[in-house]
Amino acid sequence: MPDLTVRLECVFNEVQIARRFVGEGRVLDVGSDHGMLACHCLEKNIADSVVCTDIHESPARRSSRLLSDYGFDSRSSVLVTDGLDGVKILPGDIIVIAGMGGLNIIDILTRMTASADARVLPKIAIVLQSQKSANLVREFVCAKGFDIQGESVCNDRNLYYSIMRLTYTGESTKLSDKELYYGPRLLEQQGDETVRKYFRHLDEVYAVRSRSDKRIRALIEGRIANAD
Ligand SMILES: C[S@@+](CC[C@H](N)C(=O)[O-])C[C@H]1O[C@@H](n2cnc3c(N)ncnc32)[C@H](O)[C@@H]1O
Repeated sequence: MPDLTVRLECVFNEVQIARRFVGEGRVLDVGSDHGMLACHCLEKNIADSVVCTDIHESPARRSSRLLSDYGFDSRSSVLVTDGLDGVKILPGDIIVIAGMGGLNIIDILTRMTASADARVLPKIAIVLQSQKSANLVREFVCAKGFDIQGESVCNDRNLYYSIMRLTYTGESTKLSDKELYYGPRLLEQQGDETVRKYFRHLDEVYAVRSRSDKRIRALIEGRIANAD
């Protein structure tokens, strides 16, 4: 099986950690495209079975083909659907949404949380890697009663990606702007070289955005004042 990219390897690591918290079960790979992540989860026995979903037929076919090529037909299903529409969430599920925009992720999770059995939510985990708007995703999931248990960051071919791992407590929380924009668990890892470089990268991105965004300007000024 081909190696995962650095980004997907980082997502996969978080799935492995999540598995320790939710016991045995499935991996639901939302927007699976090529199906690589799902295949690796089956190969490494991180999932009993996988459900891949994709909103488009052609990527769904790609996932089906890969799973079939590696002999995983009996442990996998592939659906053409929007997010998790039509998928019943079960205890032990780890939902993975990677490589999508933050607003799309929020939309998918809004429908998932509205339709899922509330008793099942504390028994699942979620791993998210948004391409943008991670601050909005963090704000949304914390308001919805999820706890950001872990976060990691990687650099893949000169691009940074942050990944968050969630469990459900049912208790809505509000993060500070610094936590929303930098990541509450990443702020605890500033001794890590990759995290430090990622924060320097974010500082540069936010410095540009601060010209037209007062909230970000206040955040950057606070960081400069506290030199943190
Ligand atoms: C950039 S690819 C990411 C693939 C893979 N998850 C990864 O991280 O490498 C995004 C995939 O998500 C699918 N997608 C976008 N919006 C979706 C939605 N609302 N529900 C399901 N799939 C979606 C796209 O068709 C595409 O195959």
